[in-house]
Amino acid sequence: MTNPDLQTVTKVTHWTDTLFSFRVTRPASLRFRSGEFVMIGLPGDNGKPILRAYSIASPSWDDELEFYSIKVANGPLTSRLQHVQPGDPIILRPKPVGTLVHDALKPGFRLWMLATGTGFAPFASLLRDPETWEKNERVVMMHTCREAGELEYGRKLVEDLQNDPLIGELVAGKLHYYPTTTREAGPFMGRITDNLTSGKVFTDLGLPGPLDPEIDRAMVCGSLAFNKDVAAVLDGFGLHEGANSAPGDYVIEKAFVGDGV
Ligand code: FAD
Ligand code: A2P
Repeated sequence: MTNPDLQTVTKVTHWTDTLFSFRVTRPASLRFRSGEFVMIGLPGDNGKPILRAYSIASPSWDDELEFYSIKVANGPLTSRLQHVQPGDPIILRPKPVGTLVHDALKPGFRLWMLATGTGFAPFASLLRDPETWEKNERVVMMHTCREAGELEYGRKLVEDLQNDPLIGELVAGKLHYYPTTTREAGPFMGRITDNLTSGKVFTDLGLPGPLDPEIDRAMVCGSLAFNKDVAAVLDGFGLHEGANSAPGDYVIEKAFVGDGV
């Protein structure tokens, strides 16, 4: 029996004991907006697929699809997904959705991308999309993890972006990258919420602050607790949440649904 939603893994990269990325073939008919997510999974033992939401980490122009994933030890999907190899099949439901899209934001000058952990995934797509650079004069990518190793996928992606012959020129002078750790010493530390409210990120990057609803827009992707706390910070600076149906100053997506939520 053939499954029309089956795609093939083309590349797997392990970043840490708990993080990996992989690339799969892209169905010719799949169109999506950078920042959206789809359902992907593996066939279950009883023949019923195990499907989970995943942000597409590759830009909409890419021939393949990339995903950036956690490895949950006893997770129904990722305990198995972490072992995929090139050539293996993956189920992909080609119905992209999501709010982390340019269309859901009013035009602005400076776009803040605020992510913790695997919440970086939609920004891996958006950072590689020329539309991001055409629509914004400045882009600040803040990514926070407990330890430095967890920042590596994002760090490498930003480095490659800056060295890219095509997009490198668009990005030059516009991108400000601010990776921080919270539980391991590093050059920049602290929670995104704290670094925004204290103004530390503005001082460290030499940017004018604080956040200003006239010029600043934000896209947020992390745990439920993180999203809630960042929303309160953004609201405090006078920014208003938007949606596909009513564009606003910031948009939010869950990076995962936590225990008990
Ligand atoms: P599950 O039973 O789904 O999860 C078990 C527990 O693991 C959860 O209760 C939670 O505490 C923890 N957990 C799950 N996912 C994460 C995570 N990403 N980071 C930290 N802790 C986690 N996951 C990704 O790895 N990459 C993505 O791009 C991604 N995009 C998502 C987009 C949306 C809109 C949503 C709702 C979730 C997304 N997820 C993503 C989470 C994903 O859907 C699964 O939860 C994850 O793959 C684990 O699946 P599982 O079956 O192994 O364990
Ligand atoms: P911290 O180490 O201070 O908890 P987690 O692995 O728990 O999902 O966290 C990922 C990163 O997000 C960590 O650096 C963590 O900082 C930070 N973080 C977790 N919850 C929040 C929150 N409510 N507000 C801001 N940052 C958060």
